[in-house]
Amino acid sequence: MSHQQDMEDTVEKLIHKGKGILAADESAPTIAKRFAAIGVESTKEKRQEYRSLIFATPGLGDHISGVILYEETLNQRSLDDEPMAGLLLRQGIVPGIKVDKGKGPMANAPGDEITYGLDGLEERLQGYREQGARFAKWRDVYHITDTNPSRLAIEANAEVLARYAAVCQSLGVVPIVEPEVLIDGYHTIEHSAQVCESVLKAVFDALHRHGVVLERMLLKPSMVTPGKSHTTQANPEQVAEATLHVFRRVVPAAVPGIVFLSGGQTPEEATANLNAINQHGPQPWALSFSYGRALQEPAQKAWAGALENGPAAQRAMHKRAQLNGAARNGEYSTDMEG
Ligand code: 13P
Repeated sequence: MSHQQDMEDTVEKLIHKGKGILAADESAPTIAKRFAAIGVESTKEKRQEYRSLIFATPGLGDHISGVILYEETLNQRSLDDEPMAGLLLRQGIVPGIKVDKGKGPMANAPGDEITYGLDGLEERLQGYREQGARFAKWRDVYHITDTNPSRLAIEANAEVLARYAAVCQSLGVVPIVEPEVLIDGYHTIEHSAQVCESVLKAVFDALHRHGVVLERMLLKPSMVTPGKSHTTQANPEQVAEATLHVFRRVVPAAVPGIVFLSGGQTPEEATANLNAINQHGPQPWALSFSYGRALQEPAQKAWAGALENGPAAQRAMHKRAQLNGAARNGEYSTDMEG
């Protein structure tokens, strides 16, 4: 299969109706934070046990189309001693890989950050592809304050995302382009909408400059919501309206799918918001999920670091996958939380 066909085939699988993506690509420091919340020390063996358990969830492939892995996991074997990528393929799930190397302060842009990882990206991606990865993820972050994100940070981060996406496509790997506008802060939903619009506009300008083929990528954005510390929170209908209003302005119809991140929403909020977005009737793009926390939190609590809790963790994993699969079709209702 040519690279082009291969990428189009991968995109089609990832945005399959009733399915979405599981982001299980927490870096070592991030997974340590998640494990600390359930009283588990983050060792290589514990990370392997937990991830192997959730990937082996019976029927996971009915609701999950792709899983984003951290490099360490791609190199690990499951509890049944098969390569993790092989376990996912057996579940009918496409393996993907996080390729950015984290972020840090951006010089001359106080309060803004820039994402690292372009050096050597091509060689790393070639290796990941040989190990079975068919799509990749790169995350940029934007803080909202009175002065952030600066124009400089918006432009620089867009440029980096576009360069990453272009390298992926040159190797037949579908890029997931993730500009995350953070939910932290006191800002209004209107302020969030304004920032999301500027960020996405800059990202699509940069993707165009770098010749990225929109039909062979996915966008992984934040939903438009008020800041987590804002006094009034928005209901799912308000989130859906604000989000679609911005996206219809700045996301070209050629993009096949938008797969939202959960970004600190609770599992129930993330599902209800996605459902409301999908109830708005036909849009140019598939509207699905690529959740980390909102899919895994209940499973992590159920597991709590004990192998004997594996079946309970798998049930919790299956439930959130199923409910988000329904929300991806606009067919979720809170009664289903049961
Ligand atoms: P959350 O859904 O927890 O935001 O994670 C998604 C992700 O991949 C962030 O990079």
